[in-house]
Amino acid sequence: MGSPRRILIVGNWKMNGSRQSRQELDAMAAGLDPAFSEKADMLVCPPAVLLAGFTENATGPIRFGGQDCHFNESGAHTGDISPEMLREAGAVAVILGHSERRADHGEGDAVVKAKVKSAWRAGLLPIVCVGETLAERDANEASAVVARQVRQSIPRGAEGGNLVVAYEPIWAIGTGRIPTPEDVAQVHNTIRNVLNERFGEEGEKIRILYGGSVKPDNAKTLLAIPNVDGALVGGASLKANDFLGIAHAVL
Ligand code: PGA
Repeated sequence: MGSPRRILIVGNWKMNGSRQSRQELDAMAAGLDPAFSEKADMLVCPPAVLLAGFTENATGPIRFGGQDCHFNESGAHTGDISPEMLREAGAVAVILGHSERRADHGEGDAVVKAKVKSAWRAGLLPIVCVGETLAERDANEASAVVARQVRQSIPRGAEGGNLVVAYEPIWAIGTGRIPTPEDVAQVHNTIRNVLNERFGEEGEKIRILYGGSVKPDNAKTLLAIPNVDGALVGGASLKANDFLGIAHAVL
């Protein structure tokens, strides 16, 4: 385990799950090796309608987050959810700027930045996603694109304790394809440099997760890469066995 920062393993359930998924959650909590919590934290981000039910009787080390939020506290925004509402439902964090939000809902860096500030206002930990398309990767632009997203999506005031960045190459999400360890190391190093340049000593403390087809059989390799401080996991976070297989790679 290379990271000097506290590891964070995040499950992003996307638009999956039901009230019955509580059973998977209970199996995750019951199966998690007690040694995990000595060096790492686990977050599960279910669909917002499931949050309150999951957090109400939550026991054990798993904490919860939302998958998106509006930047306002309340008002005429049909279908949206504010960070304060997520917080009230028991969330401690929120994923922001996921590529599926950027693609499905046209969210750009400026909107993501406003959402980060709103998460801070509500006392939530924002997990800001960045990542290149396959065309950008093929054009050798991955690091430049990601550096620009980090500069433009993250407001002033970021610190180790109030921000997490997730590098998710869009072409690796849900595809079973992952970049080489060298490519992951290069982009994470770029992100670290931008964070250091902008936030000084605090930049060194901000955790940078890798996301995109993280599975039990590649987690150890990915988590050993310099500046990989955890994982953002989609498909493999839905089943207790898979998610625990990834979590236990930190041991
Ligand atoms: P995946 O999704 O693990 O299913 O590739 C990751 C994500 O989109 O956060």
